[in-house]
Amino acid sequence: MDIARTPATPDGNPEMADAAIQPKAPPEIRREDYKPFPWLVPTIRLTFDLALDKTRVTARLEIERNPAAEAERTIRLNGDGLQLESLSCDGDESTDYRMDGEDLLVTLPGERHSLEIVTVIDPSANSQLMGLYASGGMLCTQCEAEGFRRITFFPDRPDVLSTYTVRMSGPKALFPVLLCNGNRTDQGEEGATHWAEWHDPWPKPSYLFALVAGDLVARSDSFTTMNGREVELNVYVRDGDLDRTEHAMKSLKRSMRWDEEVFGREYDLDLFNIVAVSDFNMGAMENKGLNIFNTKYVLADPETATDGDYDGIEGVIGHEYFHNWSGNRITCRDWFQLSLKEGFTVLRDQLFSAQMGSAPVKRIEDVRVLRGVQFPEDSGPLAHPIRPDSYREISNFYTATVYNKGAEVIRMMRTMAGEEAFRRGTDLYFERHDGEAATCEDFVRAMEDGADLDLAQFRLWYSQAGTPKVAARLIHEGQTATLTLTQTVPATPGQPDKQPMPIPLSLALFDRESGNHAGEELVVLDSETAQFSFDGFATRPVLSINRGFSAPVSIDRDVPRDELVFLAARDDDPFARYEAMQELMTGYLVGSVSGELDDAERDAARGDIAQAMRAVIEDSALDDLMRGELMVMPSQAYIAEQMLIADPGSIHAAREALKADVATRLADPLHALYERAAQVPFALDAEAKGARKVKTLALSYAAAGDPATASGLAAQQYDRADNMTDRQGALMVLAGLDSAERTGRLLDFYNRYQGNALVIDKWFALQASSLHPHAIEHVKALREHEDFALRNPNRVRSLYMAFASNPGAFHSADGEGYRMLADLILELDPINAQTAARFVPALGRWRRIEEGRAQLMREALQRIAEAPKLSRDTYEQVTRSLG
Ligand code: ARG
Ligand code: ZN
Repeated sequence: MDIARTPATPDGNPEMADAAIQPKAPPEIRREDYKPFPWLVPTIRLTFDLALDKTRVTARLEIERNPAAEAERTIRLNGDGLQLESLSCDGDESTDYRMDGEDLLVTLPGERHSLEIVTVIDPSANSQLMGLYASGGMLCTQCEAEGFRRITFFPDRPDVLSTYTVRMSGPKALFPVLLCNGNRTDQGEEGATHWAEWHDPWPKPSYLFALVAGDLVARSDSFTTMNGREVELNVYVRDGDLDRTEHAMKSLKRSMRWDEEVFGREYDLDLFNIVAVSDFNMGAMENKGLNIFNTKYVLADPETATDGDYDGIEGVIGHEYFHNWSGNRITCRDWFQLSLKEGFTVLRDQLFSAQMGSAPVKRIEDVRVLRGVQFPEDSGPLAHPIRPDSYREISNFYTATVYNKGAEVIRMMRTMAGEEAFRRGTDLYFERHDGEAATCEDFVRAMEDGADLDLAQFRLWYSQAGTPKVAARLIHEGQTATLTLTQTVPATPGQPDKQPMPIPLSLALFDRESGNHAGEELVVLDSETAQFSFDGFATRPVLSINRGFSAPVSIDRDVPRDELVFLAARDDDPFARYEAMQELMTGYLVGSVSGELDDAERDAARGDIAQAMRAVIEDSALDDLMRGELMVMPSQAYIAEQMLIADPGSIHAAREALKADVATRLADPLHALYERAAQVPFALDAEAKGARKVKTLALSYAAAGDPATASGLAAQQYDRADNMTDRQGALMVLAGLDSAERTGRLLDFYNRYQGNALVIDKWFALQASSLHPHAIEHVKALREHEDFALRNPNRVRSLYMAFASNPGAFHSADGEGYRMLADLILELDPINAQTAARFVPALGRWRRIEEGRAQLMREALQRIAEAPKLSRDTYEQVTRSLG
């Protein structure tokens, strides 16, 4: 047959092929347009002839009409940058087919057919890191969401489930290890070539397909499931990285046990493989039986990984493993349902990490991420419901809203139902929908039936965007305290009017004298406003509300500062105690930036903050991990979020000034804390981790109060460090100071870890996020550093994500930071669109920023929008941001 098309360009992306193509809006895909696919593809057989720059893929699809769909005579097979070599239907090469853009449409006369399609791809030119690509000499895949179409023509949508059999062959010297989903069923060699055949018995959508070929070594172990089945476990890495895989393997085994114990979920294959790759767009991917990970979430030892890195690895390994049930056994009907698997799986990984470590500290960390990333998203131009209604590029919807707010929404169901009923709900969900491509609605219905909840109104959490605000006013009269709660859900793009949502709020009323409360209560605010009365209070009680962060809302409780001081010292709910500290500081910072406080009021407020902080430092009942949380200042982003229009410069200055003030007032207790923590020897337990956390916190406060002394201390901490947490902490403080110690330690760090990509990422990030007055110049210089690599997402993020969240540098009043980020986006877009588009939100906040900078941010966005060619990813994010 004749092959009409050879569209592939060097990077395999046909959209970039023709410079004359004018940008046009990519089509909008809408949730309400969903239709089942007219064909079923029960089995697929793939044959790969592997080579770095030319891989031939033969796909044999057995297809039959879908009785549950409207009949159609053609089948649409998605493609992206593929070179079609041959096509036959039932062995006949004269098949009737045509191209529709990148898709292949084949006319099929009958009820069932066998299609054979041969395509050729160039993995070494695949810089988008979607589909099959080369990374440091190995081949690997990333297919979620729409990467499989860059490997072969296929109905690349999550509701088409197939059983995969895969044969791959390639030069044994280059690719000694050949991996795929499921179990290896056969292998052999012919001369310098070898081959392996794999079979995955579980039907799956194409986005869960994975293949790896490379020179890898494995840490191997085994796990016995609750029903006594032996599972072989492997963590594959490059030679030389093996001694940094112990924590990953431990985390995997803990995840497998935890999912059995807490959710009753057992693993379902004889083999579970993890592979670490250094070029990866995201954190990791849950491909059936063959999870592929960013090295960042696999490799750790005390010398090169921080305590935060250890926690991140445990959390992401858990997350991907838990997807085996919440994502793989039950997948998504369409990509609008993404939160069905992601929100639920994030909740599962949060509960897992909470149980492995300190539950209160984990909860606080989760809320900090939510408020630092998701709240701003929800109040900006990119706001969308956890179940979006439309998209142009689905990669743009792997967001904090879909993931983290999605997790909060399911957590609210759990809070309202209670743990046991929630488990009945998830059991029913798994039982009812096993093997299906399900919807968020299916999950909600299983929860209603299994957990016996009425979620009719609660469904609004899936359809309405925006963070609800709840005003809480407490009035005391006679023996009764009356709480009035009022909710507003702000307008968001495309959703001007909102309905009241059910908001579960856990609360307690404290008696000031005794410091006790009569028990926690859960109230559900399900109308715009409601009153709740509590009897038996001779004096006005102190309100503790949204305990444990029971709802993802912002609370305005307008209470006197002394009540916050009381809660910061006395609240028995750790999150509420943290919240009181945050509110004390946020209230002061917002008040002083917006000029609402006079000098006397400011001084009184700073005194109260220092007093509360001293109590935290000296409270012997606190463990250090929790003490550290209570000492953390609210982030720049969170403070800005409290203001209608923010001036990043003044917020930054006020925040640093408060830090310096606390440090000056509390110089002695901070120093004592530092000295005590410095005595604790290295270990990976909670006590030693806590000591490291408060030690570096005390140091960073000291750096604001007394930079000269802090610089010496930090240099000493750096020199004596026997672990990365201490070393990085010290270098973070030094990087922000204009001191003699700075340059030497930065150089030492680079020389010491040269060749260890993950640690060199830290070196870039530390400088890009530093408080140093010339940080913006440092970023420019680092952009030209020989170790900077536009093609490596970790490296790009380490420099530019750190930069974009460094208010002192990025928000430089002359707009230089915005121009630098726009330059990066334009340069990166043709290379790696998905990663480029991730930088757009930093520029998209202009409506909430003072006029001068807002104008400069708009100009940067405008310049991107006017580029002659843009990827779908960046196009969508930029046009939404300009609004
Ligand atoms: N499902 C993966 C996870 O949650 C994320 C994969 C996202 N990939 C992408 N290209 N957007 O761990
Ligand atoms: Zn996930």
